[in-house]
Amino acid sequence: MKHLLKLSDLTEKEILEILNIADQLKYEKKHGIEHHLLKGKTLGMIFEKSSTRTRVSFEVGMYDLGGNALFLSSRDLQIGRGEPVQDTARVLSRYLDAIMIRTYAQKEVEDLAKYGSIPIINGLTDYCHPCQILADLMTIREHKGKLQGLKLCYIGDGNNMANSYIVGAIKMGMTVAVASPNGYEPDAEIVKWATKTGRFTLTTDIYEAAKDADVLCTDVWASMGQEGEANERKKVFEGYQVNSELMKVAKPDAMVQHCLPAHRGEEITEDVFEAHANEIFDEAENRLHAQKAVLVKCILGDK
Ligand code: CP
Ligand code: NVA
Repeated sequence: MKHLLKLSDLTEKEILEILNIADQLKYEKKHGIEHHLLKGKTLGMIFEKSSTRTRVSFEVGMYDLGGNALFLSSRDLQIGRGEPVQDTARVLSRYLDAIMIRTYAQKEVEDLAKYGSIPIINGLTDYCHPCQILADLMTIREHKGKLQGLKLCYIGDGNNMANSYIVGAIKMGMTVAVASPNGYEPDAEIVKWATKTGRFTLTTDIYEAAKDADVLCTDVWASMGQEGEANERKKVFEGYQVNSELMKVAKPDAMVQHCLPAHRGEEITEDVFEAHANEIFDEAENRLHAQKAVLVKCILGDK
């Protein structure tokens, strides 16, 4: 595996390998065992949107692995003044060992991979958030002991998180049910692909989607870049909320995942968030371990 551009590029075996490496790196870190697998390597981190978890987990991750990370804000880079991605990719390939990029268009990430010669890792686009879903799958497996056969339900906007949950969970043998308002469904191609597996349903009814779910997931009603639509979205998404009433139709031991940041009182209530805080902050912690596994797989390849 050279890049992580989107989860649909990965095989089930590759996802499983990442999860297994992440588990091992987490165990070793907890036991004080150093794993300087990327000694002397440098990761460039291009951010065209804000971040807390992605930035810190990749930066600490590189440090843990014996390498370095450079925070590159598009506000300061020439890319922010219109330098073509083709040139940026070729220049940065001469200095760095890998690039993690958070941006808007998926095409920009794909273009970096096309024109550069080093591994490219997608740290979130409008289309998908593969790094986050790897951390979620790791957390679900940690709490439930397996992935295969579990039902994952996603409530809310058919955004980058929804798209990646569908692909990641279906690939790992889970059943997925999504509830989104009309006009805010996940990507049509992903829905088509998932429907063919016979393990995917899309509805506008949150109770139908959440019925007997093992995992309930949600995300913000307005993503980064959609700030101008926030008021309109509040009306559209009213009722698309993970709350205690909804939890009653899921399995009694259902867990909750939220990539964060969360908007309490919108997509999730305070009481459900706090009752499941342990699972949600395990998920946040696992960004670190999952990101390290991705870095190792992309930079060292299958060595
Ligand atoms: N979940 C997530 O990607 O968080 P950040 O936006 O803080 O990186
Ligand atoms: N859907 C959210 C995820 C944030 C991690 C966004 O794109 O803003």
